[in-house]
Amino acid sequence: MALAIKYSHLVGCLKNKNMKIKNICCIGAGYVGGPTMAVIASKCPDINITIVDINKQRIDAWNGPLDKLPIYEPGLSEIVGQTRDKNLFFSTNIDAAIKNSEMIFISVNTPTKTYGEGKGFASDLTFIENCARQIAAVAKNNKIIVEKSTLPVRTAEKIKEVLESNSDVEFEVLSNPEFLAEGTAVSDLLHPDRVLIGGEETPSGQKALNTLAEIYQQWVPEDKVLKTNVWSSELSKLAANAMLAQRISSINSLSALCEKSGASIKEVSRAIGMDSRIGSKFLNASVGFGGSCFQKDILNLVYLCRFYGLDEVASYWLGVIEINDYQKDRFSSKILLELNNTVNQKKIALLGWAFKKDTNDTRESAAIYVADKLLDEGALISVFDPMVSEKQIHDDLIYLWKSKDLSDTKMKDKLSRIEVFSTHLQAVKDSFAVAVLTEWDEFKEYNWSEIQDSMYKPAKIFDGRNILMGNKSIINYYPIG
Ligand code: UDX
Ligand code: ADP
Repeated sequence: MALAIKYSHLVGCLKNKNMKIKNICCIGAGYVGGPTMAVIASKCPDINITIVDINKQRIDAWNGPLDKLPIYEPGLSEIVGQTRDKNLFFSTNIDAAIKNSEMIFISVNTPTKTYGEGKGFASDLTFIENCARQIAAVAKNNKIIVEKSTLPVRTAEKIKEVLESNSDVEFEVLSNPEFLAEGTAVSDLLHPDRVLIGGEETPSGQKALNTLAEIYQQWVPEDKVLKTNVWSSELSKLAANAMLAQRISSINSLSALCEKSGASIKEVSRAIGMDSRIGSKFLNASVGFGGSCFQKDILNLVYLCRFYGLDEVASYWLGVIEINDYQKDRFSSKILLELNNTVNQKKIALLGWAFKKDTNDTRESAAIYVADKLLDEGALISVFDPMVSEKQIHDDLIYLWKSKDLSDTKMKDKLSRIEVFSTHLQAVKDSFAVAVLTEWDEFKEYNWSEIQDSMYKPAKIFDGRNILMGNKSIINYYPIG
């Protein structure tokens, strides 16, 4: 008790002496760095924020027309429009931004390793380490470093080690994981369920933690700003994503049972979600979850568990990914089966390529895997997505094929059978089947009679998002579950 009082007294005293942050640098102008810094800039007009990136094209796009920002998020262009060149800047001059800032956010990508120890599971920390080395080389005065990228537990410790062994200035490393979901990033940042900050349990660590907390408290109620130790913060991010993904795999596994047993997954989902102990969110059965986080974070968790010899725990979480792969495969197989297992040279239209609606992000999107399996069967694939470019679709497939060591000839053949259209009517015309893979709102508004009229008969509609359920004009309808 005495210790607790002393500790809170110490933290209270330190709170009064927080550093004043005037300049923030954010390394990485991606899906996390861009929206997060834009919202901080809009809520903290006294702080100058510079977002830097090694990718010049991306920075040029952030500095370009507001309707062509590199990332599409509802509400983002408005916020960037209000703050850009006032207290929000985009630059490729990374050294200058590091030098001028008291606080540096690291928001670079941490893909799953494709080589060496931990291949296929552990996060590749090359980009993070490069940032730490650059900061150490350039920094002339003390800095607070904030890890924003999702990282394996104990990365903060490694960042600190790199910083301190390469520089004489003092660094505090905080973990401040991002919980925003794409498509709702701006609203998630403006009204977060919580903000989590992990810091070292030392006076200087707590001071840094409170300095960052004060920034968020400009718009987030104090009781929603959680302060923990660094390891808890790092693990909480992985755990939150694993638990969310687990709910989707759970409902998707039940969707397979529904299809066999005659139960309806929509009804089951509603019935179980009304139990307040379970809750209704993240219980929508789908063709499978995608996105840059869920799979990567679970693989990371699996790697971590195995590292500590917790093989049973590792297998448990791996099951979430296995069910997700099963679901994507099951959906593609159903299309094949309904087309009599012969899709060679038959046109199949995919509506939606993004991993969810209201984003142009396609990382790990189920569409990539569905398209690949159908191409393997000789199908002609046509795609329409309101936000995703032809180049992105090609890049996604080529990335997958390279990871499978496909020969150039095979890649060329498969690529020649995929066509991307700028309207849904062009994509569906003369197709044998249409598969809805992203839950874009506009898909619900389409004239589905007109679509079916333009297809070969029987015109079959496979709904990987269950958004067309109840549409009486669809004759041959195949939902999930
Ligand atoms: C996720 C976490 O939600 C967020 O907190 C974290 O910061 C990053 O990872 P994100 O991947 O952007 O966010 O989107 P999310 O809304 O979680 O959806 C992930 C995938 O699950 C999408 O493919 C989505 O379509 C799918 N999904 C989601 C379902 O299939 N069913 C659901 O009920 C919910
Ligand atoms: P996330 O979804 O985590 O934001 P993104 O891939 O969208 O991931 O963005 C990460 C950004 O970080 C990319 O634009 C990439 O160019 C940038 N980046 C990676 N390494 C560095 C580095 N060492 N210095 C500056 N920017 C970097």
